[in-house]
Amino acid sequence: MEKKKFYITTPIYYPSDKLHIGHTYCTVATDTLARYHRLIGEDVMFLTGTDEHGQKIEEKAKEAGVTPQEFVDRIVDGPRGVRDLWKLMNISNDRFIRTTDDYHVKSIQYIFRKMHDNGDIYKGTYKGKYCTPCESFWTESQLKDGCCPDCGRPVKDAEEEAYFFRLSKYADKIRDLLENTDFLEPRSRVNEMVRNFIDPGLEDLCVSRTSFSWGVPVDFDPGHVVYVWIDALSNYITALGYGNEQYGDYEKGWWPGVNIVGKEIVRFHSIIWPAMLMSLGEPVPKKCFGHGWLLLDGGKMSKSKGNVVDPYILAEQFGVDALRFFLMRTFPFGSDGSFSNELLIQTINTDLANDLGNLVSRTTAMVGKYFGGKLPAARRYEKEKDDELVSMALGLRAKYEDAMNHYAPHKALDEVFKVIQRANKYIDENMPWALAKDMEANGPRLASVLYHLLEATRICGILLTPFMPESMDKLFAQIGAEENCRTWLSAAMWAALDGDVSVTKGENLFPRVDMDKALGELEAAVQAAKQAESGVELEPQLEEKVDFDTFCKSDFRVVKVKACEAVKKSEKLLKFTLDDGTGVDRQILSGIHKWYEPETLVGKTLVAIVNLPPRKMMGHESNGMLISAVHKEKGEEALHLLMVDDAIPAGAKLC
Ligand code: MSP
Repeated sequence: MEKKKFYITTPIYYPSDKLHIGHTYCTVATDTLARYHRLIGEDVMFLTGTDEHGQKIEEKAKEAGVTPQEFVDRIVDGPRGVRDLWKLMNISNDRFIRTTDDYHVKSIQYIFRKMHDNGDIYKGTYKGKYCTPCESFWTESQLKDGCCPDCGRPVKDAEEEAYFFRLSKYADKIRDLLENTDFLEPRSRVNEMVRNFIDPGLEDLCVSRTSFSWGVPVDFDPGHVVYVWIDALSNYITALGYGNEQYGDYEKGWWPGVNIVGKEIVRFHSIIWPAMLMSLGEPVPKKCFGHGWLLLDGGKMSKSKGNVVDPYILAEQFGVDALRFFLMRTFPFGSDGSFSNELLIQTINTDLANDLGNLVSRTTAMVGKYFGGKLPAARRYEKEKDDELVSMALGLRAKYEDAMNHYAPHKALDEVFKVIQRANKYIDENMPWALAKDMEANGPRLASVLYHLLEATRICGILLTPFMPESMDKLFAQIGAEENCRTWLSAAMWAALDGDVSVTKGENLFPRVDMDKALGELEAAVQAAKQAESGVELEPQLEEKVDFDTFCKSDFRVVKVKACEAVKKSEKLLKFTLDDGTGVDRQILSGIHKWYEPETLVGKTLVAIVNLPPRKMMGHESNGMLISAVHKEKGEEALHLLMVDDAIPAGAKLC
C-alpha cells in the first residue's frame, strides 16, 4: 500500500541578517512535526529555504558594498549561515529552496503571466505606504500611529505604475475558507484575520515594483519586478516543480501541504496565498498554522533592536537536543512565550537531567549492578504495584498522537513527562535496592521491576525521538532497544524488549547545568561574539551587585573634552582627548559614534571612571570609560552621555 503523503513547510527566511532563536523556534517546530509524521509511517516532504529578493536586501547589499547576489550567498551558504544553522540544529528538510534559484524564477514568471492572462492581474498606479524592513504595502487605515502595524517602524510614501492582483474578487471565498473550514489554526487567528482584513473590505494588492530591481522581472513588461511576497509564497509549489522542469512532484500528491508560519505572516499565508492559488485554479493548502513569537524583554526579537538571542551560542553551550527540547516543551505552540536563559537552564535541569536523565541512569546502573548488565528471564509480576505504570505507558501513544495531530507538541511532551515522572515514582515505591538485599528470594521481582522501567523508558524514548533525535539514539543504545523496539508500532506494545535484554550504562545523557556558572559563560560567549562581529573591544560589564568598599574604589571624575575624533576603520569608536585636572591629557575610547558626531562634543563637561586598567581598542589605548545613560526608545537602544554643569572644574571627584 502506498504511504500517505505529508508535505510540510517552514516560511522561507529573509537572509538579511543572521537567524536568531525566534527563527530557530519556527524551524525546530516544523522539523519536530515532520519527524513525527515520518515516525508514524507517512511519506514526508519537508521544505525550507530562503526568501532572497526585495528592496531591503538590495539596500543591505549596497551598504555592505557587494552585489545582492553576493550578499545573500554569504548569508545563506557562508560560515554560520542559514544552511549551517539548520545542519547544526539537525533539521531534516528534504529540500531547500532559494528564491534566486533559476527554476523558481522561471516559475514565478509563469505564475505572474498566468494570473495576468486570466484577468486577475491588471496595471494601475500605486499610491500608499511601504514598510521597507517588512517588504509590506499598507493603506493609511492599516497603519498604527502612522507606522507599520507589524514592526512599528516608519513607513514611506510610495507612488508608481504597478500591477495589481484582484484580491478583492476573492474576499467571499477567503472568508468562507477562514470561517467555515479548519484551514487556519489556532482558531483565534481566524477572528484576527476576518476582523482586521476581510471585514474592512479586501483591497486589490500591488504586486509589482519599478523603483528597484532586485527581484524577479515581469517577463512581458521589463522594468517591473514581481512583489516579493508573490515571489516568496509561490515557493511552496515551485519547489515541487510547479511551472518548471526541475522537480516533478507537484502532480504526485504532495500538494496541498501544511504551512507552519509565525503569527505576523499569517495574513500573507491565509489570505493572499490562498487567493493566488484560487486564481491559478490550484488547491489551497491543507493547513496554515500560525505559531506565536518568542519574546525577549516583552518584545519581539529583532536585530535592529539589538535584542536577538544567538542559537549557535545556546546550542554550543547546552547541546542541540536540549535546545530543541526546551523550545518545544516550554512555549505552547500557537501562543507567545518569553525567552530567558534562566528558563532554558531550569528546563534542562528539571526535565532532562532530573526526570529523564535520572530515570535512564538509575535504571541502567541497577541492571548493571544487580545483574551484570543482562536481565535474567525469570520474572514476578505484581499486579497492584505494576498496573498503573504499565497502563499509563501503554496509553501514552494515543494521547501523544492526538496532541501532535492537533499541532500541540507541548501537550504531547506533557503526556510523555507524566509517564517519566510516574516511572521515577515507581522506582521509589519498589525500592530495587531493598529487593537486591535478598536476591534469592527477590531476584525475579527485581528483574521485573527493572524490565518495567526499561519498557516505560523505551516507549517514552520513541515518542521523544522527533524532539531529540540524537539523544534518543543514545538512549536506545543504553537500554538495549534494537530497531524493531524503536518503531511507532512498538510504542503501543508492552514487552517489546527481549526478556534477557542487555543494557549498557553509558554517558550521562543530560548533565545538570550549574546556573550561575552557565550564565557567566553565556555572557562571556555573547560578548566574544559581539566583539568578533564588530572588531571592537567592548566596555567592561559592571557586576550586578558590588559591596560598598569595592564601589568606593571606583574613581569617577569630571572631565572636559579637549578634542574628539572618529577612529579610522571603526563604525562605532570615538577617541577623546580629555582634561582630567591632572595637567596630563587623558585618552578614552568610547563606542558611541552612532549617537554623537565627534565635533559636537568638544568643550563638553562629562563624567568618566578613571581608574580602570588601560585597554586597547583598534590599536588605541583607552584609559577609563565615559559614563552614559542607556535606555530603549521605540525599541531602539538610545544613549546619552552624562553631561554636567560646565562650572564644575576638570578633575572634580564624584562621591
Ligand atoms: N521571508 C518571510 C517569509 C516568507 S514565507 C513565504 C519571513 N521571513 S523571516 O525570516 O522574517 O521569518 C521567518 C519565520 O521566523 C517566520 O515564521 C517568523 O514568524 C519567524 N520568527 C521570526 N522571529 C520570531 C520570533 N521572535 N518568535 C517566533 N518566530 C519568529 O517572514
